[in-house]
This record gives sequence, structure tokens and C-alpha cells, in this order.
Amino acid sequence: MPPFGKGERGVLDERGAGIERRFEAAFGGEPAAVARAPGRVNLIGEHTDYNGGLVLPVAIDRDTRVALRPRADARVLGLSRERGKSEADLAAPPASDWLDYARGVARALADAGRIPARGFELCVETDLPQGAGLSSSAAFEGAVALALLGAAGVILARGDRPELARLCQRAEVEFVGVPCGIMDPFTVLCSQAGAALWLDCASLEARPVALPDSLALWIFDTGVERSLRSGAYAERRGECERALALARRALGRALASLSELSLDDLVALEGALDPIALRRARHVVTENQRVRAFAAALARRDLGAAGEALFASHASLRDDYAVSCAESDALVSDSRGLAGCAGARMTGAGFGGCTVHAVEAAHASAFALALAERFRARFGRVPRHWRAAAGAPAEHFAR
Ligand code: GLA
Repeated sequence: MPPFGKGERGVLDERGAGIERRFEAAFGGEPAAVARAPGRVNLIGEHTDYNGGLVLPVAIDRDTRVALRPRADARVLGLSRERGKSEADLAAPPASDWLDYARGVARALADAGRIPARGFELCVETDLPQGAGLSSSAAFEGAVALALLGAAGVILARGDRPELARLCQRAEVEFVGVPCGIMDPFTVLCSQAGAALWLDCASLEARPVALPDSLALWIFDTGVERSLRSGAYAERRGECERALALARRALGRALASLSELSLDDLVALEGALDPIALRRARHVVTENQRVRAFAAALARRDLGAAGEALFASHASLRDDYAVSCAESDALVSDSRGLAGCAGARMTGAGFGGCTVHAVEAAHASAFALALAERFRARFGRVPRHWRAAAGAPAEHFAR
């Protein structure tokens, strides 16, 4: 395997300095490396990454920060500001605990020959809500990966980051046991500061997508707990695999993924696929088209058309993919009539979690007040919500 190329280090900011002080208080002495990684909000292209399709997420201005120091033995000691203490041997099986993510990344990097297999001490803190569909796990993995590499003297070049994203995904699938796709680690590690990211998940071809200044992004948290491990996510993946197998047989073609189907194929498949398989496949095919329509609308600064693609994506996720919930549906439909709102949809895996709302910046504050009030009138509580800006990808800090 070729060595990773030389990259650049960020300069330690106030928040990086804060985690460094907490590390010193917890473990004594300085950390060997400090790193941060952002969460992401997926603007459009949902449940397409593991179907070889298109996604268009944006790294946001909330992140996870870690400070870390290798140990001579195989013990991993963790202190999370949000989740408390945890410890385990590097080689021990997963313990269904937050430290699994860090151990999984360390093991994946060691298995790939990138770092020595040894224990470490780790402090972590985050301002990302956990389990809300904003990729808190990929942010943690990305920050741990850069810190572990930094502690081993490796500062990554940009061109090496896609491979690191793959290793983080492998850690989560194979060690933590969450069958996630490539979108989240790729966004966290490989996006460009201040821009959204167009990613073809089959080829990993990626490019930055500029967001207009006139666009404000609001994120509303339904407060409905979701867990990728709950089975529904894996069930959707299974349904897509079944749809693909049936489509291959019926069309007699070597299809690599559902994203290789056309709308005409879907019509031809009507008799051959059961109704659920057909609906899942239709979501994937039409969602890829909506990603293209959304990106084209942004390029010509047409917020109205971009927003319609978001609303249509939500309808498809609700009706064809069946991953929405009453709270997300209400947030999206209640957005429609509000001044300045171009579009809205559930974001992330679904089954609760967050919605994203594209709003004209001039209306941003009034929109959020009004939507929160509509939600309170329906569900008796004010949902957590905040305005998100495009953030910077993961970085390792010079110390
Ligand atoms: C989760 C997974 C991603 C992706 C989305 C749905 O966030 O981690 O890989 O599949 O769900 O688009």
C-alpha cells in the first residue's frame, strides 16, 4: 500500500485548545494530537449512497473535537464530555458503547498498516446532537482517524482522504455493526470548506457545489429517537438488494445497482417486482434525478426549483421508501405555506431525526419562529432547531 501523502495542519482554535486542556486535566500531560470533524446535513439524495447513486450533503458548522495520546499497552481509555468514561482493550469485541467507534477506527487503520495496533487515551466533546441524523458518528470517526494518524506522524494530503473515508465506513460496518454507506465519512473528510458536495457513490467522483448567499438552512429536530441499529435501515437495504436481484433476472442485464435502472426500466418491471420492491427501486431512480435537478437549480440560482426538488424528495421518502414519521411530515408540510420557504424534507436515515428547510435568508428568523409554533400547536412541545452554515472538513491541528 503506498504511503499517505503529506498534507496541511490547521491552527489550533479556541475549541481545540479547550479539548487539549480537558485532556491534560483527565490524563495528565499533553495529548499527542488534536483534531476536529464536522457533522453534515444531507440536502438531497437520501438512501441512494448504498444503491450506487448520487448524494448532495453539506458539512456544517458544528463539530466533534478529540485529543488523543497513544499508550504503550493495548488499553483504550476514553472520556466523553457528553457520555462519560469508558475503557476497553483495543482487541476486545465491540461493547455497544460509544468507545466502539474509536476502537473500530483504530483497528481499521492498524489492519490497513497505517498505524501501529496499540491503545490510547482519548478526550472527546461535541456540539452535534447525537442520533439525530446529522452524522455525529462519522464526525467522531473522522476526528479520531485524523488524530490517530497525526499521533503516528502522518498528516494526510487531500488525495488520501477518500481512502480514509472508506476505512471509517469499514470500522462502522464491520466493528460497530451499523450497515451505513459512504456518504457520511466522505462528506466529513472530503468536502470543501463552505460548499456542499456532489458525490457519485458508485465512482466516488466528487465536486464542490456552491450554495447561494440568499439561502438559509434551518434544521429542525423532531425529537423522535432513531437508531440505525433498530433494524429498519438494514431492512431497507435488504429490500433494495431483493429488488436488484429481481430486476437483473427480469431484464437479463448485469446491473451493478438500482441506480443503473431508468424510468422506462421501472415501467417494464411492473409485473416482475412485488409492490414493495418496485416502490423502493422507484425511490432510488427518481431520487437520483432529483439530485441532478436540485444541483442544476442551484447553479442557476433558482431557489424555487431547488426547493420543489426537496419537497418531492420528502414525498418519495414518505410514500415509496417509507422512512418518514408524523413529526417529519408535519414539519415539511407546515413549511410549505410559510413566507420564504423554498423547500423542506427529512434528512438522514429517517424514522425520526431531523428535517432540513431551505429558506430565503431575508425570511430566516420569522420562518423558524412560525414553524416552531406550528409544531408546538400540533405536538405540545417546541422542537430543537438551529440555523446551519456550510462548515469546514475534518482537520488535524498543529500543536
Ligand atoms: C445514514 C447512513 C448513510 C445514508 C443515509 C441515508 O445516514 O449512515 O450512509 O445511507 O442514512 O441516506
